[in-house]
Amino acid sequence: MFEIRRLAAAEVLERKQEFEWLLKDAVEVGGTVGFMLPMTEDKLDRYWSGVARDLEAGERELLAAIEHGKVIGAFQIAYEKAESVSHRADLQKLMVHSSEQRRGVARALLVDALERMPALGVAMYTITTMTGGGSEALVRSLLFTRFGVMPHYGLTPDGKLHDASMHYISRPAVEE
Ligand SMILES: CC(C)(COP(=O)(O)OP(=O)(O)OC[C@H]1O[C@@H](n2cnc3c(N)ncnc32)[C@H](O)[C@@H]1OP(=O)(O)O)[C@@H](O)C(=O)NCCC(=O)NCCS
Repeated sequence: MFEIRRLAAAEVLERKQEFEWLLKDAVEVGGTVGFMLPMTEDKLDRYWSGVARDLEAGERELLAAIEHGKVIGAFQIAYEKAESVSHRADLQKLMVHSSEQRRGVARALLVDALERMPALGVAMYTITTMTGGGSEALVRSLLFTRFGVMPHYGLTPDGKLHDASMHYISRPAVEE
Protein backbone atom coordinates (compact mmCIF):
# COMPACT_ATOMS: atom_id res chain seq x y z
CA MET A 1 0.00 0.00 0.00
CA PHE A 2 1.21 3.50 -0.76
CA GLU A 3 1.67 6.35 1.72
CA ILE A 4 1.28 10.09 1.13
CA ARG A 5 4.15 12.29 2.31
CA ARG A 6 5.01 15.98 2.10
CA LEU A 7 8.56 16.21 0.75
CA ALA A 8 11.17 18.89 1.29
CA ALA A 9 13.46 20.21 -1.46
CA ALA A 10 16.38 17.93 -0.53
CA GLU A 11 14.30 14.77 -0.89
CA VAL A 12 12.90 15.93 -4.21
CA LEU A 13 16.45 16.36 -5.48
CA GLU A 14 17.46 12.94 -4.08
CA ARG A 15 14.48 11.38 -5.86
CA LYS A 16 14.79 13.52 -9.00
CA GLN A 17 15.02 10.50 -11.31
CA GLU A 18 11.76 9.14 -9.89
CA PHE A 19 10.02 12.48 -10.42
CA GLU A 20 11.40 12.70 -13.96
CA TRP A 21 10.11 9.19 -14.66
CA LEU A 22 6.69 10.24 -13.35
CA LEU A 23 6.42 13.49 -15.33
CA LYS A 24 7.74 11.97 -18.58
CA ASP A 25 5.10 9.25 -18.34
CA ALA A 26 2.29 11.72 -17.53
CA VAL A 27 3.04 13.75 -20.65
CA GLU A 28 3.62 10.74 -22.89
CA VAL A 29 0.21 9.28 -22.00
CA GLY A 30 -1.46 12.62 -22.88
CA GLY A 31 -1.70 14.23 -19.45
CA THR A 32 -2.28 17.99 -19.35
CA VAL A 33 0.39 19.05 -16.87
CA GLY A 34 1.89 22.01 -18.72
CA PHE A 35 4.20 20.28 -21.23
CA MET A 36 4.24 19.38 -24.90
CA LEU A 37 5.91 16.37 -26.49
CA PRO A 38 8.74 15.50 -26.67
CA MET A 39 9.76 15.39 -23.01
CA THR A 40 13.49 15.96 -23.17
CA GLU A 41 16.02 15.34 -20.38
CA ASP A 42 16.65 19.07 -20.28
CA LYS A 43 12.98 19.96 -19.72
CA LEU A 44 12.66 17.34 -17.00
CA ASP A 45 15.82 18.45 -15.24
CA ARG A 46 14.95 22.15 -15.34
CA TYR A 47 11.41 21.57 -14.18
CA TRP A 48 12.24 19.52 -11.06
CA SER A 49 15.19 21.72 -10.15
CA GLY A 50 12.77 24.67 -10.25
CA VAL A 51 10.26 22.83 -8.05
CA ALA A 52 13.03 22.16 -5.50
CA ARG A 53 13.93 25.87 -5.52
CA ASP A 54 10.27 26.85 -4.97
CA LEU A 55 9.99 24.39 -2.09
CA GLU A 56 13.13 25.81 -0.53
CA ALA A 57 11.67 29.32 -0.90
CA GLY A 58 8.36 28.26 0.72
CA GLU A 59 6.40 29.08 -2.43
CA ARG A 60 4.81 25.66 -2.80
CA GLU A 61 4.34 22.25 -1.16
CA LEU A 62 4.85 18.90 -2.80
CA LEU A 63 2.90 15.79 -1.79
CA ALA A 64 4.15 12.42 -3.02
CA ALA A 65 2.56 8.98 -3.06
CA ILE A 66 5.32 6.50 -2.25
CA GLU A 67 5.10 2.72 -2.52
CA HIS A 68 7.90 0.20 -1.96
CA GLY A 69 10.26 3.16 -1.53
CA LYS A 70 9.41 4.70 -4.91
CA VAL A 71 7.37 7.73 -5.96
CA ILE A 72 4.28 6.66 -7.92
CA GLY A 73 2.30 9.91 -7.79
CA ALA A 74 2.68 13.58 -6.92
CA PHE A 75 0.72 16.76 -6.42
CA GLN A 76 1.61 20.36 -5.66
CA ILE A 77 0.07 23.18 -3.66
CA ALA A 78 1.25 26.57 -4.96
CA TYR A 79 0.77 29.51 -2.62
CA GLU A 80 -0.47 32.75 -4.13
CA LYS A 81 2.14 35.49 -3.91
CA ALA A 82 0.03 38.66 -3.66
CA GLU A 83 -0.82 39.64 -0.06
CA SER A 84 -4.47 40.21 -0.90
CA VAL A 85 -4.98 36.61 -2.05
CA SER A 86 -2.67 34.86 0.41
CA HIS A 87 -5.64 32.89 1.80
CA ARG A 88 -5.76 30.97 -1.51
CA ALA A 89 -3.53 28.29 -2.98
CA ASP A 90 -3.65 26.63 -6.38
CA LEU A 91 -3.50 22.84 -6.74
CA GLN A 92 -1.25 21.82 -9.61
CA LYS A 93 0.38 18.93 -11.47
CA LEU A 94 -1.68 16.04 -10.16
CA MET A 95 -0.05 12.96 -11.69
CA VAL A 96 -0.01 9.24 -11.06
CA HIS A 97 2.18 6.88 -13.08
CA SER A 98 0.16 5.11 -15.78
CA SER A 99 1.10 1.72 -14.30
CA GLU A 100 -0.52 2.72 -10.98
CA GLN A 101 -3.71 4.46 -12.06
CA ARG A 102 -7.26 3.70 -10.91
CA ARG A 103 -6.06 2.53 -7.49
CA GLY A 104 -7.19 5.67 -5.67
CA VAL A 105 -3.74 7.30 -5.57
CA ALA A 106 -4.88 10.67 -6.98
CA ARG A 107 -7.90 10.67 -4.69
CA ALA A 108 -5.62 10.06 -1.68
CA LEU A 109 -3.31 12.91 -2.75
CA LEU A 110 -6.25 15.31 -3.03
CA VAL A 111 -7.76 14.22 0.29
CA ASP A 112 -4.37 14.72 1.94
CA ALA A 113 -4.14 18.25 0.50
CA LEU A 114 -7.65 19.01 1.80
CA GLU A 115 -6.81 17.72 5.27
CA ARG A 116 -3.71 19.92 5.38
CA MET A 117 -5.60 23.18 4.73
CA PRO A 118 -5.70 24.32 8.38
CA ALA A 119 -2.05 23.44 9.01
CA LEU A 120 -0.98 25.27 5.85
CA GLY A 121 -3.12 28.28 6.74
CA VAL A 122 -5.08 28.07 3.49
CA ALA A 123 -8.78 28.94 3.35
CA MET A 124 -9.44 28.12 -0.29
CA TYR A 125 -7.99 25.94 -3.04
CA THR A 126 -8.42 26.42 -6.76
CA ILE A 127 -7.73 23.79 -9.40
CA THR A 128 -7.94 23.79 -13.20
CA THR A 129 -8.63 20.53 -14.98
CA MET A 130 -9.10 19.47 -18.58
CA THR A 131 -12.85 19.62 -19.23
CA GLY A 132 -14.31 16.13 -19.36
CA GLY A 133 -11.11 14.45 -18.14
CA GLY A 134 -10.62 12.00 -15.28
CA SER A 135 -9.28 14.67 -12.92
CA GLU A 136 -12.43 16.75 -13.37
CA ALA A 137 -14.61 13.80 -12.32
CA LEU A 138 -12.35 13.31 -9.32
CA VAL A 139 -12.43 16.89 -8.02
CA ARG A 140 -16.17 17.15 -8.47
CA SER A 141 -16.62 13.94 -6.48
CA LEU A 142 -14.69 15.67 -3.67
CA LEU A 143 -17.17 18.58 -3.66
CA PHE A 144 -15.09 21.17 -5.50
CA THR A 145 -17.38 23.73 -7.19
CA ARG A 146 -16.88 24.31 -10.91
CA PHE A 147 -17.13 28.04 -11.53
CA GLY A 148 -16.29 28.23 -15.17
CA VAL A 149 -15.11 26.61 -18.36
CA MET A 150 -12.60 28.34 -20.59
CA PRO A 151 -12.70 27.24 -24.22
CA HIS A 152 -9.37 26.56 -25.90
CA TYR A 153 -7.54 27.01 -22.59
CA GLY A 154 -4.47 25.04 -23.54
CA LEU A 155 -2.85 22.39 -25.70
CA THR A 156 -2.66 18.67 -25.13
CA PRO A 157 0.89 17.23 -25.34
CA ASP A 158 0.29 16.38 -29.01
CA GLY A 159 -0.91 19.88 -29.86
CA LYS A 160 -4.73 19.81 -29.78
CA LEU A 161 -6.59 22.69 -28.14
CA HIS A 162 -8.66 21.68 -25.12
CA ASP A 163 -11.15 23.41 -22.83
CA ALA A 164 -10.46 23.68 -19.10
CA SER A 165 -12.72 23.77 -16.07
CA MET A 166 -11.94 25.98 -13.06
CA HIS A 167 -12.92 24.78 -9.61
CA TYR A 168 -12.60 25.94 -6.03
CA ILE A 169 -13.20 24.56 -2.58
CA SER A 170 -13.20 26.54 0.64
CA ARG A 171 -12.31 25.33 4.10
CA PRO A 172 -15.82 25.54 5.53
CA ALA A 173 -16.95 23.11 2.83
CA VAL A 174 -14.09 20.77 3.66
CA GLU A 175 -14.86 20.90 7.39
CA GLU A 176 -18.63 20.35 7.05
C1 LIG B 1 -5.86 12.10 -13.59
C2 LIG B 1 -4.99 11.14 -12.79
C3 LIG B 1 -4.13 11.93 -11.83
C4 LIG B 1 -5.91 10.20 -11.98
O1 LIG B 1 -5.08 9.38 -11.15
P1 LIG B 1 -5.59 8.01 -10.52
O2 LIG B 1 -4.72 7.67 -9.37
O3 LIG B 1 -5.75 6.99 -11.58
O4 LIG B 1 -7.04 8.42 -9.99
P2 LIG B 1 -7.90 7.64 -8.88
O5 LIG B 1 -7.64 6.17 -8.98
O6 LIG B 1 -7.68 8.27 -7.56
O7 LIG B 1 -9.36 7.94 -9.42
C5 LIG B 1 -10.33 8.54 -8.61
C6 LIG B 1 -11.55 8.85 -9.47
O8 LIG B 1 -11.22 9.82 -10.49
C7 LIG B 1 -11.95 9.51 -11.69
N1 LIG B 1 -10.99 9.11 -12.73
C8 LIG B 1 -9.67 8.92 -12.60
N2 LIG B 1 -9.11 8.61 -13.81
C9 LIG B 1 -10.13 8.61 -14.70
C10 LIG B 1 -10.19 8.39 -16.10
N3 LIG B 1 -9.10 8.09 -16.83
N4 LIG B 1 -11.41 8.49 -16.71
C11 LIG B 1 -12.52 8.80 -16.00
N5 LIG B 1 -12.51 9.02 -14.65
C12 LIG B 1 -11.33 8.94 -14.01
C13 LIG B 1 -12.88 8.37 -11.34
O9 LIG B 1 -14.08 8.96 -10.83
C14 LIG B 1 -12.10 7.68 -10.23
O10 LIG B 1 -12.90 6.92 -9.37
P3 LIG B 1 -13.15 5.34 -9.74
O11 LIG B 1 -11.81 4.72 -10.05
O12 LIG B 1 -13.77 4.84 -8.49
O13 LIG B 1 -14.05 5.36 -10.93
C15 LIG B 1 -4.11 10.27 -13.73
O14 LIG B 1 -4.92 9.73 -14.74
C16 LIG B 1 -2.95 11.01 -14.36
O15 LIG B 1 -1.88 11.14 -13.76
N6 LIG B 1 -3.11 11.49 -15.61
C17 LIG B 1 -2.01 12.16 -16.32
C18 LIG B 1 -1.70 13.54 -15.75
C19 LIG B 1 -2.90 14.47 -15.81
O16 LIG B 1 -3.49 14.70 -16.84
N7 LIG B 1 -3.25 15.03 -14.65
C20 LIG B 1 -4.37 15.95 -14.53
C21 LIG B 1 -3.89 17.31 -14.22
S1 LIG B 1 -5.29 18.36 -13.79
